[in-house]
Amino acid sequence: ERALRDFKVADLSLAAFGRKEIQLAEHEMPGLMALRAEFGASRPLSGARISGSLHMTVQTAVLIETLVALGADVRWASCNIFSTQDHAAAAIAVGPDGTADRPAGVPVFAWKGETLEEYWWCTEQALTWPGEPGPTLILDDGGDATLLVHKGREFEATGVPDPATAGSEEMEIVFRLLAASIAENPGRWTAAAAAIVGVTEETTTGVHRLYEMERNGTLLFPAINVNDSVTKSKFDNKYGCRHSLIDGINRATDVLIGGKVAVVCGYGDVGKGCAESLRGQGARVIITEIDPICALQAAMDGYQVLRMEDVVAYADIFITATGNKDIITGEHMARMKHQAIVGNIGHFDNEIDMGGLARRSDVTRVTVKPQVDEWTFADGHSVIVLSEGRLLNLGNATGHPSFVMSNSFTNQTIAQLELHTRIDSYPIGVHVLPKHLDEKVARLHLDALGVRLTTLTDEQAGYLGIPAEGPYKPDHYRY
Ligand code: NAI
Repeated sequence: ERALRDFKVADLSLAAFGRKEIQLAEHEMPGLMALRAEFGASRPLSGARISGSLHMTVQTAVLIETLVALGADVRWASCNIFSTQDHAAAAIAVGPDGTADRPAGVPVFAWKGETLEEYWWCTEQALTWPGEPGPTLILDDGGDATLLVHKGREFEATGVPDPATAGSEEMEIVFRLLAASIAENPGRWTAAAAAIVGVTEETTTGVHRLYEMERNGTLLFPAINVNDSVTKSKFDNKYGCRHSLIDGINRATDVLIGGKVAVVCGYGDVGKGCAESLRGQGARVIITEIDPICALQAAMDGYQVLRMEDVVAYADIFITATGNKDIITGEHMARMKHQAIVGNIGHFDNEIDMGGLARRSDVTRVTVKPQVDEWTFADGHSVIVLSEGRLLNLGNATGHPSFVMSNSFTNQTIAQLELHTRIDSYPIGVHVLPKHLDEKVARLHLDALGVRLTTLTDEQAGYLGIPAEGPYKPDHYRY
């Protein structure tokens, strides 16, 4: 049945609900709707085959349907096992003109609560184009789709290493999947890599991976770093998390945040938004940082900056937002207060050492409800861990709201357009979008908020030495 239908979602009967929420979201996503108005007739993405690996939410549904409106063929998977909104996935599979009985939408492989095996199977499905070597473009969030293509091509050249050497349980799964796929269809990943024009990457962690590959000389195709558009990281990472962090904590626990001591690990863009939201609820917020600049920023913003060992025994809520690993260990959790809440909002699940916690002999796990677990230690105290250490704003709530995602996804769509129509400007390497496009994304979101922008006079423009129509800032300006 799956082969006939070429998608896999939890429940197609949720499609009508998903469609209703997509319609509400469209109004809140003026950047994407403006691109549909600008490019819907000329369809500049015609001929593009886009494989997406990005949280399958209502907001992502509006992105997918924008790419389709611009002429692209699209296949999709989520980039996290808990982040799919099943009604959004169902609506995408059914499509605006289909029905649950006659689905006519985009091939999507995503449901909430995938196993890791299922997760990587879904990623492979999104990259598998019947009758074609693969996609022409990847739209990635965290770099897993890009990783699969790179590893697949590498293993076709070198042979698949013993999965036992993979280094982690998850990479073992990837090694096995690639071994099976190469055995079934030798050369498929080499052909896929050759057909890929480029990738656009959504998040800080995925961008780190791309720069690493660029440095090592292993990057196979050009990449656009969407994260570092100002209208992405200074908005989605900050204001998005300001909204969705406490949404996740509230839905998971309903614990009053006011008056509590909350620790935010990392004071980058995500940490700044998290700290502000917890302070907004009346928590006393403490920051941990390794970077003296971010630590100083936190102090000047009025937060105490301490180390984990200073606060581990008396804080009530712990949130990791570093993109780094082993920030909260099993040893830390053993020393926390009874019913301390522990959650992560960074991209991967290794910020909290869940493996280390699970391996301890003095701890037992009871699931309170999906994505909320109480881990009880031998001394009787417990900690409440959200989304098994995976990003809690998408696991326990619905991620960022539409308006902020419209900024991110307008950048994504423009980046896809750039790679598809102007690839000569993007040699192999990691690029950011030019500032005039960043400013365009912001401009598309002003009317909806009633913003009246001041127009530079010719005299003023001459005095500053910049064009009246922008760009207004040099590339090194930090906002
Ligand atoms: P960033 O690089 O701006 O900030 C991370 C901060 O963590 C840095 O200031 C760094 O110095 C600090 N840090 C690193 N190791 C640390 C340690 N051991 N202890 C304390 N602080 C430490 O990155 P950004 O943009 O804030 O992203 C953070 C993570 O969140 C990334 O994994 C990113 O992909 C993810 N992300 C998640 C979103 C979500 O909706 N859940 C949205 C956007 C980004």
